[in-house]
Amino acid sequence: MNNKPVIVSGIQPTGNLHLGNYLGAVKNWVDLQNSGKYRMYIFIADLHSLAGNMPAEQRRKQIIETTAELLAAGIDPKKTTLFVQSQVKEHTELGWIFNCVTPIAELERMTQYKDKSQQQEKNINAGLFTYPVLQAADILLYRGNVVPVGQDQVQHVELTRDIARWFNNRYGVFFQETKHLLTDVPKVMSLLEPDKKMSKSLGAGHVIELADTPEVIEQKLKKAVTATSGGEQAPGVKNLLLLLQKFGNQKIYQGFIKAEKDGSIRYGDLKLATGKAIGEYFSDFRKRRAKLLSNPNQLKKILTAGAKKAGLVAKKTMKDARKKVGIS
Ligand code: ADP
Ligand code: TRP
Repeated sequence: MNNKPVIVSGIQPTGNLHLGNYLGAVKNWVDLQNSGKYRMYIFIADLHSLAGNMPAEQRRKQIIETTAELLAAGIDPKKTTLFVQSQVKEHTELGWIFNCVTPIAELERMTQYKDKSQQQEKNINAGLFTYPVLQAADILLYRGNVVPVGQDQVQHVELTRDIARWFNNRYGVFFQETKHLLTDVPKVMSLLEPDKKMSKSLGAGHVIELADTPEVIEQKLKKAVTATSGGEQAPGVKNLLLLLQKFGNQKIYQGFIKAEKDGSIRYGDLKLATGKAIGEYFSDFRKRRAKLLSNPNQLKKILTAGAKKAGLVAKKTMKDARKKVGIS
């Protein structure tokens, strides 16, 4: 019997991976996978993405691109069960059961719901509202113990814990506790508005994508906001220094830290050094991504095999959950 702790996490197919996704979540997934200490389930949350505004054709394309990017970043289908959420039907079934134990008032507290309702004010659909309930089903279907995510998802993982408790109180103990796991960089900031998290929804100039060429990275960093005046470390500078620390040579990084302290720092140089470091760090990623995307059938095969494996676990949980609630 394999009783390693279970890790579950997901990502929406809403666009190319950016440095926030990478440092907040994806790099951690790869490290946790390679530690060999966990049973890993990573999926593409295509059902969650239906709550947004994306056209169908774009969704179809981005499911494949996100798969290629996760593999290029180091997710290994031999070590991680990698699949598409909608291919395992039990997610929606458990999601419905959880809808029926979750108080509306608790969903109204969710900050992501409030943010997204502002971003898409013409499409505040019920899926956007019950989004975290489906997320709880994603996690508890595999009896996830640990959920590695960025800062913005912590509230949803906490709600997952509550949903397990509400279910257990009503139907008898069945689901266990779940914990979130953050990295040391749970919130990478936007290049253009460094008081906000780096996010696709802010626009292309705000994010550096893992697939960006060195030229594009340089262009984007040129426009990045740094300090307006002397004194305290500005959030934009802090963000760039963090990226240099994560992707660059530590001596060069220390040089900029020293220059920052003694006031001799030149932001143009910091941007150049940071851009060069990021471009080089992801050079292999870009090659692997292009190669993987040249064979979409191979990617589809990986996803089908992953869904089959995940389905076995999901079916077992649902069989027991159905009994618990009295529908079988
Ligand atoms: P986005 O906000 O760009 O749409 P997602 O919501 O798809 O990104 O996030 C996927 C994963 O990446 C989640 O675990 C999320 O917490 C993490 N993440 C997203 N943006 C950042 C960021 N700026 N810093 C750290 N982690 C992030
Ligand atoms: N809501 C997550 C995001 O926007 C994606 C997600 C869906 C997820 N289901 C999940 C993350 C389950 C962790 C566990 O980033």
